[in-house]
Amino acid sequence: MARKSVHGQWSSRLAFILAATGSAVGLGNIWKFPYVTGENGGGAFVLVYILCVACVGLPIMVAEILIGRRGRQNPMDSMGSLARDDGCSPHWQWVGLMGVFAGFLILSFYSVIAGWAVAYFFRAATGLFRGVTATSSKQIFQRMIADPERLIAWHTAFLAMTMFITARGVASGLERASKIMMPALFVILLIMVGYGLHAGDAQRAIDFLFRADFHRLSAAGVLEAMGQAFFSLSLGMGAIMIYGSYLPAGISITRSALVVAVSDTVVALLAGLAIFPVVFSQHLHVGSGPGLIFVTLPIAFGHMPYGALFGALFFLLLVFAAWTSAISLMEPPVTWLVERHRMSRFGATLFTGGVVWVLGLGTVFSFNLWSGVTLWHMTFFDAVDNLTSNIMLPLGGFAISVFAAGVMARESSAQELQAAPTVYRVWRFLARFVAPAAVALVFLNAIGVLRFR
Ligand code: PHE
Repeated sequence: MARKSVHGQWSSRLAFILAATGSAVGLGNIWKFPYVTGENGGGAFVLVYILCVACVGLPIMVAEILIGRRGRQNPMDSMGSLARDDGCSPHWQWVGLMGVFAGFLILSFYSVIAGWAVAYFFRAATGLFRGVTATSSKQIFQRMIADPERLIAWHTAFLAMTMFITARGVASGLERASKIMMPALFVILLIMVGYGLHAGDAQRAIDFLFRADFHRLSAAGVLEAMGQAFFSLSLGMGAIMIYGSYLPAGISITRSALVVAVSDTVVALLAGLAIFPVVFSQHLHVGSGPGLIFVTLPIAFGHMPYGALFGALFFLLLVFAAWTSAISLMEPPVTWLVERHRMSRFGATLFTGGVVWVLGLGTVFSFNLWSGVTLWHMTFFDAVDNLTSNIMLPLGGFAISVFAAGVMARESSAQELQAAPTVYRVWRFLARFVAPAAVALVFLNAIGVLRFR
């Protein structure tokens, strides 16, 4: 039976692709991918990451869009209704609810980091980075994260921007923003890559990113590559599912998913090519963690012609990339509150924003007041990041793919996918066996490693 989303629809296939790419391309590609690659030794991690995107991420993305378009509701009710349609246990809805909670949690730290990008936009624009050295760039960054008040202010600003768009409804605001922002981001990234390869240590960067040395990759690193694939593709928590619920009938799900996954991966690799040449030429530490791009890129901007302009542009586009992702992180909680708890969209946005703001304080304090407060060597930020990316998203993705390809009736999924028989069979095989098995294996392996460490 054909349902309709109460929240509206994308106007075209392009609008969906841009919005979904907007969700996928974000801090995960430009901020997180380079630093987790750095922490995990480079090439081997990149290779495992790409494998995870192709064999696990892509089939799960198709599964999410399919469930969303057929269910046309928030993740919890879409999964519940589809289960009931096909006579399966309604308990599958709890997978959707986990996604709603993941939305609150991820957005809480996402907004804090995106706040850094907003702060850096102003710093770059005012020429603060002119002539900056490796040492002074590190100092600028450390001074910022040591100050909870400043971090809270930027976190608040970014969250308010996100709430503003969410409250107005996604379909109209988001479509136009993505149409301008996504191509612009791509162009600026290419300029940065050009600069990095030209002025930095290109050879070492390419070796580091593309020469696979498996001795440097641990089982925990493999889990992290998978977690990063889920995070970067916005999978496992219903964001892409919701975007699928706004997708008009008759648009190819498999082809759209392929475009989104490939673009997301290309952007991540380009970000690596822009950043690592500078890291190596400036003798910065590749494993320096979340501050990596905020320390390295200002050095590049500080020395290039029109650096203030390019720097400002880059951080502005980073803000937009993060913004289009943050909006998609808000959708699962907001649609859930609207449909389940009969809130208005405005009320639901305020409520979600309030919860996220408070949770975000934990991340803010992880870099200063609470930096010494750790659990299993993790700060609050590390714990939320780990819990969501490495546990909740893979678990959610596992369940979503088993549900779409193994639990829902074959007729339902085939009817919704409308793909050529071979494409359907390949997808079903990947989503039913390969993706769940890969997630399970990586999990067990990582648990084994943790136990024997
Ligand atoms: N994919 C986004 C990024 O790479 C983050 C995100 C995760 C967005 C999960 C939505 C859902 O920055």
